[in-house]
Amino acid sequence: MGSLEHLVECDKTEYANVNWDELGFALTKTDYMFVMNWCKDGEKFSEGVLTRFGNIELCPSSGILNYGQGLFEGLKAYRKEDERILLFRPEENALRMQMGADRMCMPSPTVQQFLDAVKKTVLANKRWVPPHGRGALYVRPLLMGTSPNLGVKPASEYTFLVYASPVGSYHKGPNLNLVVEDKTHRATPGGTGGVKAVINYSPVYKALSEAKAKGFTDVLFLDALTGKYIEEGSACNVFVLKENVISTPPAHGTILPGITRKSIIEIALTFGYQVEERAVPIEQVLDAEEVFCTGTAMVVRSVASITYKEKRIEYKMGAETVAQKLYATLTGIQTGLIEDKMGWTVAI
Ligand code: COI
Repeated sequence: MGSLEHLVECDKTEYANVNWDELGFALTKTDYMFVMNWCKDGEKFSEGVLTRFGNIELCPSSGILNYGQGLFEGLKAYRKEDERILLFRPEENALRMQMGADRMCMPSPTVQQFLDAVKKTVLANKRWVPPHGRGALYVRPLLMGTSPNLGVKPASEYTFLVYASPVGSYHKGPNLNLVVEDKTHRATPGGTGGVKAVINYSPVYKALSEAKAKGFTDVLFLDALTGKYIEEGSACNVFVLKENVISTPPAHGTILPGITRKSIIEIALTFGYQVEERAVPIEQVLDAEEVFCTGTAMVVRSVASITYKEKRIEYKMGAETVAQKLYATLTGIQTGLIEDKMGWTVAI
């Protein structure tokens, strides 16, 4: 005891038994989740507890099951080379959940409650944070109406729950081949496309399944009003590049204000690119030099091709792309390889 060998032994990071290099984007059950309840009488969230990860009980008539009154968030914890753990812009997720809660008539945790819950969940599942450079721990906060709710009205009880899973690449294949979806839409003006409502996601399954059956990786949605402008993928924001100008649809209601989207815009500006948040006609996408997708799960991925009305356009790929430069900077900051001058990372 007290020998150098002992100290070195105590200092070794304990890891869960995971084949880190095989991780895709699927649930690996971890040890703990965090749960905090809100009831109308107290009008506030309870203290919140860490419990073993497992199934939860819900009334068959609960607001989340019957009317989809729920929101989720997604953020990642990364392991630095020195084994310490970094969260990426967690406060942004807390604020986005508050914005969504307002839209969905739900109470929301304070920023501090959200941050404490995320930190506790990550620390309790520390052994599941992949080794440096081999993935991330994806943290999934959920906010849902849990009281019985037969009539169409907001629930009177809510649960805020945070769980986590180690993840690797969102799309595993080498290339992202998108097809433009012109029959169904992800979001409509005045709807919930601009918040992270759970109800935004399953409506894309039909288009996504059909696209996958035809060999595409993902779909690119168009705006519901005119069908002329691009919106998003099934779970990512989209950027196009031409002559050093980077354009992306504005987050004005039908576009999810992605935190990776926002970070990429800020990084691109520091590199001197002109960034335009504006309606992007599909014709301009077909004429672009590069197209790339961003998201917490996706990070930054170059699009290899887009197919629109049977016509396939291919884009620049590889190490020399702007997308790759932005990806390297973003992930460098996230994993502690690049000095975080933006103040985005939170060490825990
Ligand atoms: C995320 O990137 O966190 C997302 O929301 C995508 C998710 C739906 C898989």
